[in-house]
Amino acid sequence: MIDPGHREALAAAHGTPCYVYDADRIAAQAETLRSFLPTAASPRLLYSFKANPLPSVAGELRRHGCEADLTSPGEIGAAVAAGFDLSRALYGGPGKGEEEYRTAIRAGIGQFSVESAVDLERLAAASRSEGTSVKALLRVNPHSPPKAKLAMSGVASQFGFEEDELRRDGREILRLAGGTLSVVGLHLYWGTQIAEPEALLASFEKTVEIAEELADGLGFPLDILNLGGGFAWPYAHEGNGPDLSPLREGLAALHARSGLAQRAQWWFESGRYLAGSSGTLLTRVMEVKRSKDERLFLILDTGIHHLGGMAGLGRIPRFSIDLLVPPARRGNETILVDVVGPLCTPLDCLGKKIEIPRVDPGDLLAIPNVGAYGATASVGAFLSRPAAVEILHRDGEAIAVHRLRAGHEAIL
Ligand SMILES: Cc1ncc(COP(=O)(O)O)c(C=O)c1O
Repeated sequence: MIDPGHREALAAAHGTPCYVYDADRIAAQAETLRSFLPTAASPRLLYSFKANPLPSVAGELRRHGCEADLTSPGEIGAAVAAGFDLSRALYGGPGKGEEEYRTAIRAGIGQFSVESAVDLERLAAASRSEGTSVKALLRVNPHSPPKAKLAMSGVASQFGFEEDELRRDGREILRLAGGTLSVVGLHLYWGTQIAEPEALLASFEKTVEIAEELADGLGFPLDILNLGGGFAWPYAHEGNGPDLSPLREGLAALHARSGLAQRAQWWFESGRYLAGSSGTLLTRVMEVKRSKDERLFLILDTGIHHLGGMAGLGRIPRFSIDLLVPPARRGNETILVDVVGPLCTPLDCLGKKIEIPRVDPGDLLAIPNVGAYGATASVGAFLSRPAAVEILHRDGEAIAVHRLRAGHEAIL
């Protein structure tokens, strides 16, 4: 967590609101997570750009051994800017057209996670017309969850082939590939924010079981097994993620006792565990305003256009943040505030009934653990205010400073 002196200096130099990302923290998270993966499985750790596509942040992860997990042409651009080798990257996500596939193939993407038979046909057509060989992993939506409790798994969704469909019609589906497109493995992703290592291990165990049965039954090579992830980290609250060190032994043991899957390379994906802790949103208090003698509104220069705009989608907590005040205010009596931003809508609310020491206009506040699903997971274009500045720093020393572009581009 960036110390208050560095916060003030960066905010003074670059203005607020600003996201500050700690380069050393990014590196430490990558090294820690990589150390849990089973070396016997030639593991790869892919950084999910959806968490934070800022090339300076992603570049730190690349330098610390991560590959790219990409889902859009924009993310391809960010990965190129961050220096990733796209032949080692994975491209996935539902709803991709043949043209998008051709763009990704021309950019040099080597592996694709395919979500359906329609998707596989489109990828096959794109690789044929580009005359370029590519590899596909079939993404599987499992029939049922593993024994340990998991929030999201085996539910109806737009993601992946139904496990039952593959068991039933898999051979027919595989005939859609061939020629320049080879199916070389499977991809399962059980859910995000899986906090207990036991639950993660149970999901990985189930993945191996499903993968071995499918590869054996359908007779395709299991060269790559993408076991997904779901490694948890707090969002916009202080604190650290769970202790995932039991994964080290658990994954090694799982690899040692697996059958067909032992020949595969094991891939894992993470966004929030890798990037979340590095980021802090710095914001200034614009006004502390009482309404009808009932409620106190803490009006900030940031809001749902910079943070938490996807809360409505239920992927991240609604109306809940920790707000760190300057050290000089810590002894103040506390106030109960609704934390709001500058947008002209009551939706622009980052937290209700939050208790903090009394602060004044001009004070610099900090929202921790927002390096993932912050700047670009918000409703950035809503009300046409500028994006927050984004600063990668080491020990308070700015390394790179960016701002996301918004606004209309003329097409005609
Ligand atoms: C397929 C897939 N991979 C990786 C991720 C990254 O998740 P997280 O940031 O929780 O690690 C997601 C998130 O939704 C996902 O859907």
